[in-house]
Amino acid sequence: MRHLMNPLDFTVEELNQLFDLANDIEKNPEKYAHICAGKKLATCFYEPSTRTRLSFETAMYNLGGTVLGFSDAASSSASKGESVSDTIRIISCYADICAMRHPKEGAPMVAAGKSRIPVINAGDGGHQHPTQTLTDLLTIRSLKGRLSDFTIGLCGDLKFGRTVHSLINALARYENIRFVFISPPELKVPDYITEMLKEKGIAYEEVIRLEDCIAKLDLLYMTRVQRERFFNEEDYVRLKDFYILDKSKMNLAGKDMLVLHPLPRVNEISVEVDTDERAAYFKQVQYGVYVRMALILTLLELAC
Ligand code: NCD
Repeated sequence: MRHLMNPLDFTVEELNQLFDLANDIEKNPEKYAHICAGKKLATCFYEPSTRTRLSFETAMYNLGGTVLGFSDAASSSASKGESVSDTIRIISCYADICAMRHPKEGAPMVAAGKSRIPVINAGDGGHQHPTQTLTDLLTIRSLKGRLSDFTIGLCGDLKFGRTVHSLINALARYENIRFVFISPPELKVPDYITEMLKEKGIAYEEVIRLEDCIAKLDLLYMTRVQRERFFNEEDYVRLKDFYILDKSKMNLAGKDMLVLHPLPRVNEISVEVDTDERAAYFKQVQYGVYVRMALILTLLELAC
């Protein structure tokens, strides 16, 4: 039995197969409409989410399966003091597969260790968010036709943003990727990530101003300042509008630079950018459903 805790749990080859399956699902949805009939997905969300949870639920419904679960810790037995290990043992008796989000780093891993069903990490604290990374990679591969030879800028909260950490780990395995980390000094990418890049000999630079580097980017990954992970509101207020991608900055960018964002957006991308052909963040949401469908099929060993 297989779980997904980290994007690196799948080899590059396995990821390619997963993305091929997701692209086939996109083209032939009817072929997959009943494949999970009789199967149940449990969504155990100890932290608020609309996109990720609804994306998982939509994915399971699109495959003909059903869904059960809870959408915040207060409505689960965690509020009575139940451990994640016990909860997953119970869920294993009800469902065939589980997607779990938790504010504590590592909680889905603890659950996976006790589970009789595949567990998918749907985001653990500021640590990892592998299915967002699968979404990001599928979007890039589908719109650009490749996952190598890019200069990618990651902009915003690189310290607390788990989507950023997962994406860097995953992209570091492809050929000729150059990273540009764009953040205020307080929200720099963690040292363990830059250490990993140094060890692998992967090029990266750290800059503060988006205007100074946007022209050389093939991909720009914008992120929200993660208010819920700040220790004090003052720092959040000071940093929250540090970056605002608007038309004037887009005018400095190349004509094929894709703009990605895991969403939800706050102020970091002005709505005037939404109609720009390079804005790919709403397309990303749709790819998120296809890739989660492919993932559920793969972990349930139903992929054909
Ligand atoms: C992200 C997350 O939860 O980390 N959202 C998502 O799952 N699409 C990004 C964020 O909340 O900023």
